[in-house]
Amino acid sequence: MNILRNTFVLIALALSAPISAETTAEDTPPEAPAPVAAPAAPVGAEQIAAGVCAGCHNADGNSVIPMNPILAGQQAEYITKQLMDFKGTDTDPAKRNSPVMSSMVATLSAEDMKSLGDYYAKQKTSPSQAPADEKLLATGKILYHGGNIENGVPACASCHGPTGAGIPPRYPAVSGQHAEYTLTQLNQFNTGDRDNDNKVMQKVLTRMSAQDKRAVAAYISTMR
Ligand code: HEC
Ligand code: HEC
Repeated sequence: MNILRNTFVLIALALSAPISAETTAEDTPPEAPAPVAAPAAPVGAEQIAAGVCAGCHNADGNSVIPMNPILAGQQAEYITKQLMDFKGTDTDPAKRNSPVMSSMVATLSAEDMKSLGDYYAKQKTSPSQAPADEKLLATGKILYHGGNIENGVPACASCHGPTGAGIPPRYPAVSGQHAEYTLTQLNQFNTGDRDNDNKVMQKVLTRMSAQDKRAVAAYISTMR
């Protein structure tokens, strides 16, 4: 009886030994604290876009909510830069403030932000469909392509291109964007609430009237 029992214990010990050795190695805390919520396997941009971002930007980046920007067809580098600016680094605070977006980027890695840029850049754009006032559009068109020499407002086309497609990697596409979102950004650059542009857009806007901003935002939404 005793022999049998001892053998059983020995076998049990032999079986459990390698397992407990492994567990101990894993249980030992590493020098640095483990990253919080590190995913077991890398999650693709498509899954993040469909799971986390779709509620506001749609899975393919074609937001239909005027306050939420259309991301489809935007330049990859620009999207990645914005995500990084929303997040900031360990040493630098966020360069672009948005209470909504700052919580969205909190768990994104640098790799995620890069692949999300590539993902949205590849999606086909469905531009904004909101109708706009003809007179407003005419004013906006002149401003966009020619600026306002009297007030010293430069032509938007000089940096964002004649079709609004932008010039990679620094000048984002603006064509077809929701007027409401564009106007919000122009106002934020104007007040300095958005200042992740090296003061470029802030300078453009110092001499633009509220009406000019509305007009150019409306025109941009109709550009294809
Ligand atoms: C709850 C709604 C919401 C969710 C969810 C959301 N966003 Fe946003 N996103 C916004 C809003 C609103 C803005 C505009 C912020 C501002 O006014 O500056 C924005 C702006 C952005 C911009 C800047 C675009 C530009 O043209 O400058 C990017 C890029 C972006 N979001 C990507 C994402 C990604 C990627 C996710 C998912 C990880 C996500 N968003 C989830 C609402 C949302
Ligand atoms: C000298 C170059 C230059 C000129 C001129 C210029 N922009 Fe920009 N614009 C930029 C840069 C650079 C950015 C990107 C800033 C960043 O990296 O966040 C930008 C960003 C923007 C954005 C934000 C896009 C987004 O998706 O959030 C809008 C809207 C915009 N510009 C509209 C305009 C309009 C309208 C005009 C003309 C009145 C104009 N810009 C003239 C350089 C320029």
